[in-house]
Amino acid sequence: MADDDLARLAALVRTIPDFPQPGIQFRDITTLIADPHGFALATDLLAIRAARYRPDILVAVEARGFIFAAAMARVMGLGVVLARKPGKLPGAAIGVDYALEYGSDRLEMHEGMLSAGQRTVLVDDLLATGGTLLAAAELVGRTGAIAAAALCVIDLPDLGGAKRLADAGVPVETLIAFA
Ligand code: PRP
Ligand code: ADE
Repeated sequence: MADDDLARLAALVRTIPDFPQPGIQFRDITTLIADPHGFALATDLLAIRAARYRPDILVAVEARGFIFAAAMARVMGLGVVLARKPGKLPGAAIGVDYALEYGSDRLEMHEGMLSAGQRTVLVDDLLATGGTLLAAAELVGRTGAIAAAALCVIDLPDLGGAKRLADAGVPVETLIAFA
């Protein structure tokens, strides 16, 4: 992977100060998703890295994780299980509450979507504190399936998410970082 490619991806991410609250530098990936070359490059690079963990299926985190996981799944010939925000799933679901850089939230997954021993790779757009991906990993673990790794486009290393996930036994790979 060329450094130029990664620099191009980083340049496609817009920074919006004080969103959703004062003091937060919001790394807005919608501008990268809207760029056909940037989006294809990011999803191809994520798919190559995800394949090394030999997943049977991808687990996508709402909301922007859905976009990257869907594109990766097409490249990899895999399906996608959705980890959704509360109250969205119609069937019986399991759930985990978690804290964010700003506030708190909950992720839910339909029961019966994963089976014991199945290998998953978790996909989201951005890693901050790691709370969201830890919650997704916990959901996967409750089913008996394996969270083999987590893949994101962006890391905010100052918030320590990669270490929290590694400590929980989930290696994280990201393409670009914003300090
Ligand atoms: C953002 C981002 C990740 C999460 C990362 O989503 O898309 O899912 O925060 O933060 P963490 O590593 O501290 O958990 P957000 O919670 O803003 O929700 P949205 O995708 O529904 O907008
Ligand atoms: N999720 C948590 N922190 C974030 C940030 N600074 N920018 C974009 N998404 C985020």
